[in-house]
Amino acid sequence: MMNPAHAANGCDSIASIPITWNIDYENDIQTIFNTRCSNCHVKSGGSPEAGLDLDPGSSWDSLVNAPSLEQLGRLLVLPGQPLDSVMFEKINCETPNAGMRMPRDRTPLPLSEQALIYD
Ligand code: HEC
Repeated sequence: MMNPAHAANGCDSIASIPITWNIDYENDIQTIFNTRCSNCHVKSGGSPEAGLDLDPGSSWDSLVNAPSLEQLGRLLVLPGQPLDSVMFEKINCETPNAGMRMPRDRTPLPLSEQALIYD
């Protein structure tokens, strides 16, 4: 069966970005969410978009092994398999399999930040 992640279109290549081996989740990843996904995926002040709370202290549990609401049967983050993870597809691809590219209506993440999330 075709891998659904590969049906998304306009995905950026991050092949030119060196691998970061020692990712610090709070410093390297949470700061991206704080800067780029705030207002929408925050619990403070209402219900987060798509039920996805990316606040500090919540984002890991919201993402890792958590089911996608938009793409039934897929996980937002499947550990060790970014290309099968809905969250990576949503930041990496112009046309994801469902919904819009994230951050919605904003500038796509720079390749360096996409690569950190991939790693
Ligand atoms: C301007 C508001 C806004 C911003 C900023 C935003 N999102 Fe979203 N997000 C949404 C909305 C609305 C949806 C549901 C519709 C869609 O997917 O287009 C969504 C859906 C998602 C989904 C799909 C959830 C699921 O269950 O399948 C993921 C993953 C996601 N966003 C991640 C992110 C990440 C990571 C960022 C920051 C890099 C981000 N979003 C920034 C509004 C936003």
